[in-house]
Amino acid sequence: MLSRVAARALAAPSAARFFSASAAHQTKVAVLGAGGGIGQPLSLLLKSDPLVTSLSLYDIRGAPGVAADVSHVDTASEVKGYAADQLDQALEGVKVVVIPAGVPRKPGMTRDDLFNTNASIVRDLAAAVARVSPEAHILVISNPVNSTVPIVASTLEKAGVFNPRRLFGITTLDVVRAARFLAGVTGATPDQTTVTVVGGHSGATIVPLLSQTAYGKGVTGEAYKALVHRIQFGGDEVVKAKDGAGSATLSMAYAGAKFTNSLLRGLNGEKGVVTPTFVKSPLFADQGIDFFSSNVELGLEGVEKIHPIGPLSAEEEELMAACLPELKKNIEKGKAFVAA
Ligand code: NAD
Ligand code: LMR
Repeated sequence: MLSRVAARALAAPSAARFFSASAAHQTKVAVLGAGGGIGQPLSLLLKSDPLVTSLSLYDIRGAPGVAADVSHVDTASEVKGYAADQLDQALEGVKVVVIPAGVPRKPGMTRDDLFNTNASIVRDLAAAVARVSPEAHILVISNPVNSTVPIVASTLEKAGVFNPRRLFGITTLDVVRAARFLAGVTGATPDQTTVTVVGGHSGATIVPLLSQTAYGKGVTGEAYKALVHRIQFGGDEVVKAKDGAGSATLSMAYAGAKFTNSLLRGLNGEKGVVTPTFVKSPLFADQGIDFFSSNVELGLEGVEKIHPIGPLSAEEEELMAACLPELKKNIEKGKAFVAA
């Protein structure tokens, strides 16, 4: 004889499955800057991710419209849009906050030229996360990432809620580009040409470790130099082609959704999820560089393990020598902004 509970579960098997799965993987994700060039396609891609159960879209303009549009996509997640004065409501109960808010580059600008505008945007959004959802994982897209991540960390620190396991600068676009460009040079497919990219996210601070890959170590001489340059300055390629209309948005939305999915897989208990990301890191802390991107294993609490960078070729040693002083300056600038 079946118990009443078992009989009910058999009568509605899909509902029983749904509730057990949702209890284990209840994940609300917020996008701050959802109305922008990155924010819109990123919101669409997150709506397609089965690991996202609820999507909270915020911007100082346009988020309710984006939310209404995206909410018609036939996946299970709920979507809600929030207007400029509803930031705190947008952050209620979120587990992950992705931040693409801020201005993009125009031709002739460096990412650091965005600092004056974007630093305060990111600081204020981080302060709101600290106030409303201090346990949330924060994924920073807004440039200059080398400075905006330390700004978020210092803001959370000031509020007494900084947990380094829950803060990530998204450098995934560099990883995506490296795989795509190496595939182009070698004739392999991008799934065969994954490259670990370390350092930071701007020009010389982007260090692709091609020598650590089967296809990458076969690229030498002028071809190697051209490939490294393209990976380091891929962003400029897009800024130039868009000719004043902004920077990478679609490939960035793809990269942002890819990283968010990796994090959610880790948070849901999947083992062995490893990807480069810019985090508070001990690797070069003895040189005063306490944020660095290297392979990071993602787990139940966010950062599970920071991997060392591994063996470098002579060329990569040179790239690192150029990366570290610039990265240090960028990090210090971010910290000084919050301390001031
Ligand atoms: P965009 O101008 O198209 O969109 C930015 C959005 O941010 C706008 O909708 C704007 O209203 C919103 N915004 C501004 N202030 C805000 C605030 N206080 N709160 C909420 N929203 C706010 O720009 P975009 O092309 O989407 O780029 C956004 C940022 O991402 C830029 O800083 C850009 O440099 C950066 N970016 C980073 C990477 C990376 O690899 N990490 C790649 C591409 C772009
Ligand atoms: C990129 O790498 O495409 C972004 O950082 C945007 C930019 O300014 O290049």
